[in-house]
This record gives sequence, C-alpha cells and structure tokens, in this order.
Amino acid sequence: MITPQLNYDSIANDYNQRYPTSQQWGRGEALLKLARQINAKKILETGSGTGYWLNLLHQVTPQLYGLDFSAGMIAQARRQPAPLKLTHAKATQLPYQSAAFDLIYCVDAIHHFGDHRAFIREAYRLLKPGGALAIIGHDPHEAGISSWYIYRYFDNVYKTDTLRYPAGTSVLKWMHKEGFQDTSAQTVEYIRNEYADENVFTDPFIKYNATSQLALLSEKTYQSGLQNIGNAISRSKEINKSITFRSEIIVKMWLGFK
Ligand SMILES: C[S@@+](CC[C@H](N)C(=O)[O-])C[C@H]1O[C@@H](n2cnc3c(N)ncnc32)[C@H](O)[C@@H]1O
Repeated sequence: MITPQLNYDSIANDYNQRYPTSQQWGRGEALLKLARQINAKKILETGSGTGYWLNLLHQVTPQLYGLDFSAGMIAQARRQPAPLKLTHAKATQLPYQSAAFDLIYCVDAIHHFGDHRAFIREAYRLLKPGGALAIIGHDPHEAGISSWYIYRYFDNVYKTDTLRYPAGTSVLKWMHKEGFQDTSAQTVEYIRNEYADENVFTDPFIKYNATSQLALLSEKTYQSGLQNIGNAISRSKEINKSITFRSEIIVKMWLGFK
C-alpha cells in the first residue's frame, strides 16, 4: 500500500508547540504507570520525535532509547533535559540486539511506519521475556472518531488516514500472531475541544504544519479546506446562528507482553 509520507524535518522546529507545559496528558500517565508496573529499566520509543515522552519517563529509568527516521526531530530530541540515546533509523528494521528492552512503545507514530506488522515483529524480537509493547494513538477506523472537524472540511484527509492508520483490531491480531500475550486495548485519553465560529482559526491543530493530516495536503487543498470552514461560518451567520467545530478524539493504547 502506498500512502503519502511526511518529511518531519520540515516541521521539527515547531513540533513541540503541541505540548504546552500546563497540560496533563493521559497517554503520558499511562506510559508512566506501565513503566513502573513492569519495573522497566531499559526503554525504547520508536518514532520518538522530539523526545517529549522519553523525557517524561526519566522519572522511571535513565536508560532511555529513541529511534526516529527524521534527523530534524532527533536534533530537537537532543535538547531534552534527559540524556537520551538516539538513533536515526526506521522502525521496521530496529538496529538493536534481541531481548534487550523491558518496554517498547510508540506514540502517534505507527501510521508512519508503512509495514505495521513488521514493526510489531521487530518489537517482539527486541523485548526481554515479560517485556511490554505499547502502541498509542487514535483509530480512524472506529465509529465516532470522525467527529474531528478536520476530517469534514479538508478533502481526502479522512480517507488518507484510514489508509495510513492500522485498525486497532488489526494491531491486536498482529500482536497475537507475532507471539504477544495478554493483549488488550484501553482508552488512555479523550481529546475534546470546541471552537465557536472564527475561534476555530485559533486551534493550534489547524496550522498547516501542526499535524501530518494537514501537512500532507498541497497548499491549494489546505487553503480550500480553510475556505470551506470560512463558508460554513458565513452560512450560519446568514441565519443568525453560531457554528461549533469539534475535535473529539479517543486516544488508545494497544498493549501486549512477550
Ligand atoms: C507524529 S510524530 C510523533 C513523535 C513522538 N512520538 C510524539 O508523540 O511526540 C511521528 C514521528 O514518527 C517518525 N517516523 C516517521 N516514519 C518513521 C519510520 N519509518 N521509522 C521511525 N520513525 C518514523 C517521524 O519522523 C516523527 O518524528
């Protein structure tokens, strides 16, 4: 399957804007809880980006490994306070020794890995017996997720996401087939934001480079999505109504143990 790929080098400098220091993140809490529960000493994040989650896990262990395909994102991750061991490589061919890690995870990244099952297979190889794989992200295949207004107003974004993202049911099936036990899915975060009328343009995630969903669009398609939103606001004003733009996204963690 060929799906569009985003070069994260081009958005690496601005990427951390999505993590305001004031915010608590359910996915971070889930990772901390899991790492403590299994007493993880050696942790690997694949698609580690700017190292935000690895830095959080420094509370649990100093042995923190990150792997990413973007040199720009790795350069940002080097600026984290925690000393991270970073590698520039692909998640489907992990350049580490077998049975080396207690916890391997990815956050908002598996949809970039191309061959999702190859990543799960590699993760199994790299985990110590009893180690855990946690795949965190959203599942556009699940009913209800389409309440993200971005899917409605920007052409083809939803369709592209259903091609890029594996279904949660497939993730669990592949984990099971590769040998993982006690597999489960749980909701770790519920993102719920609402913007009335023109306030939607203050949503940080409507910026061209804030998410791969929009950054993959041509400038023309992106602008016409903004225009669609502007038109919807004008139409509701004509009938003296306000329009609400909603982002309702369920973030899940698919978990399995070796
Ligand atoms: C949405 S970002 C998430 C970054 C980080 N996990 C976070 O939650 O902040 C996706 C990351 O996956 C990386 N990536 C894309 N394709 C990859 C691949 N084939 N192997 C490893 N990393 C990849 C990108 O460079 C980017 O840093």
